[in-house]
Order: sequence, then C-alpha cells, then structure tokens
Amino acid sequence: MNQKETVLLVGGAGYIGSVNTAALIERGAHVIVADNFEKGHRAAVHPSAVIEECDIRNAEAIENVFQRHTIDAVMHFGAYSLVGESMQDPDKYFENNLEGGRNLLNAMRKWDVNRIVFSSTAAVYGNPEEVPIQEDTRTEPVNPYGRSKLAFEYLLKSFEEAYGIHYAALRYFNAAGATEMNGEDHHPETHLIPIILQAALGKRDSIAIFGTDYDTPDGSCVRDYIHVSDLAEAHLLALDYIRNESLTCNLGNGQGYSVREVIETARQVTGHPIPTEECPRRSGDPARLTASAERARSRLGWIPKQPELRSIIQSAWQWARANPNGYPKL
Ligand code: UFG
Repeated sequence: MNQKETVLLVGGAGYIGSVNTAALIERGAHVIVADNFEKGHRAAVHPSAVIEECDIRNAEAIENVFQRHTIDAVMHFGAYSLVGESMQDPDKYFENNLEGGRNLLNAMRKWDVNRIVFSSTAAVYGNPEEVPIQEDTRTEPVNPYGRSKLAFEYLLKSFEEAYGIHYAALRYFNAAGATEMNGEDHHPETHLIPIILQAALGKRDSIAIFGTDYDTPDGSCVRDYIHVSDLAEAHLLALDYIRNESLTCNLGNGQGYSVREVIETARQVTGHPIPTEECPRRSGDPARLTASAERARSRLGWIPKQPELRSIIQSAWQWARANPNGYPKL
C-alpha cells in the first residue's frame, strides 16, 4: 500500500477494527477512526490514530468527517453483528448495517473517495449444502444479520457500477485470537473462544456446548477460526487490489474445528480443566462452516501466518490474562 495514504476506519475501535488500525499505522498510513463507541473502546485505538466520534446513521456527521480530513480510502467495520439480536430486532440491523452503510458510501461519492474494504461475513451463505464454501455458492442467509450484510454487498456492487466506487467484500469466517495490544472485549460476550477463556480465568463456572447431536464427527458444530492479524493482513492487500477492480472473497483457514476440539485445545493452552455443560442447539447455528480461501490466495496472495488453532487460542489467552477485565474505560 501507499504509505502516505489516509485511511478512514469506521468502527476502528472494535475488535477487528482496532487490529487493522494498528496494522495500517505500523505500515506508515495515517488513520482516522470513526466510531460511536457503543461497542468500541477508546483504549483499543492506537495512540497515533485520530479519533472522530461519529455515528454512520447520522449522514451529516459522517460527511463532516470527510470534510475535515482528506481521505484516500475507507475500511468499514461498523456493523452490528449478533445473530440472535438481529432476529429480535431486524430494524436495528437494517438501519445501521444497510442505511448507515449507504450514508457512508454517499459521503465517499460526495468527496470523491473510490475505494472501500467491507467486513462481510460467512453468514451470507446461510446453511451451505457443501463445505468448504466457495464464493459462488448460493447466498441464502438465514437471519437478518446475514441478510443486512448481503444487502450491503449488493449496494456496493450497484454503487460500483453506477459511480465507480471499487470495493472488497471480505467474508470473514470465525475471527479469533489477539495481538499484544488488541483483543476481544464484547458486552455481552457471545463468542466461543473468549467465553472459554473467561471460564479459564475463573469468571465463569463452566462453558455451554450448544448442540451435541449435529451431523459432525463429535456432534458439536464445526467452524473455521482465523487469526485477527491474518484478517488485518488481508485488508491491507485488498486495499491495494481494489485500485484496479473489486473483489468478493472468503477469509478463513479452510480448516474446521468442533466446539469440543476448541475447548480441548484451550484446556491444553491454559492448563485449566474448563468444565462443560451439554446444552440444546442455539437457534440459527449451521452444523459446519469452513471456507475455501483459494480466491484470497490467488488474487491477493494472502497466506495466513497463524493458521494453527493452538496459536490462535494462545494469543487470545495472553491478551485475556493481561486484560482480565477487558479494556480500561478512558
Ligand atoms: N458456542 C457454544 N457455546 C458458547 C458459545 C458458542 O457452544 O457459549 C458454539 C456456537 O454454537 C457455534 C460455535 O461455538 O457453534 C462458534 O460460535 P460463535 O458465537 O463464536 O461464532 P458463530 O460461528 O456463531 O458466529 C461467527 C460470527 C458471526 C458470523 C459467523 C459466520 O460471530 O458474526 O461467525 O460464520 F456471522
């Protein structure tokens, strides 16, 4: 990437956004973080980034950010992402993830910014018939979260055709792990690995295994965990790639691990017994989600550097031990 670039990171104070903020700054870019701090943390933002407190649902507020800074490109991490919540309150998801995203694209149009890297999700595929999932697999999301992300992908495609904005829609599988500075701190926490580590820290008595009767080798769900630093690397590559053309691609390791395997690996890493409780299935969970990441490899030259589940969990464990109460409030 061009090191002198100024990149706007919407949602740059969240889990994946904050790791990308640091990665861009380490490569010499100038970073503006626009975040409403509903989910993000000020303490997660690299000290060299400029912070703009701003909500993309407010079109004028986001336009003002473009007025104040000369922005070369955008990364968008600012969507809601809880499947269960999206089923209870779909309007919230379409308002922020689609309408808010549209405000952002219109601000880009107005200020002549024509590159955006967007955090999409494996949830756009719904319950795939086959794994590993290729990008041209039928997209049939089964919840409003996945639908709002897919709807925004269509918006991106339409804005490219009409207005020439190039995009990368990066469909993440299960983001996990941490860097020294940044890790997962959600309220409420719903993700498997941080919950397991809360049990290892003694903050929970046990961990619920949601579903033990899936058609998988050990009956629990299989997911493709991808290190958050590897995701950040893919964003940097994508930012360059879309100078020429747009791209939609999966980001995963292509390797599936069951819930039971993740718990067992965490036991080895932490030395804690991590008691489990077998529970009914969680609504909306597909049995297996693993990526074919061939497209990211061939088009971006992306090769994950930390594909091993053990090292992903190890990095998350280091961060959890260093920050047992999450980020400090600033
Ligand atoms: N799980 C448990 N117990 C828990 C928490 C999770 O058994 O306490 C299981 C889930 O049922 C699932 C697996 O662990 O089988 C992983 O669950 P996560 O909540 O960590 O992640 P998901 O696979 O549900 O969701 C993630 C992202 C979504 C994205 C999806 C796409 O959080 O935003 O991947 O694959 F849509």
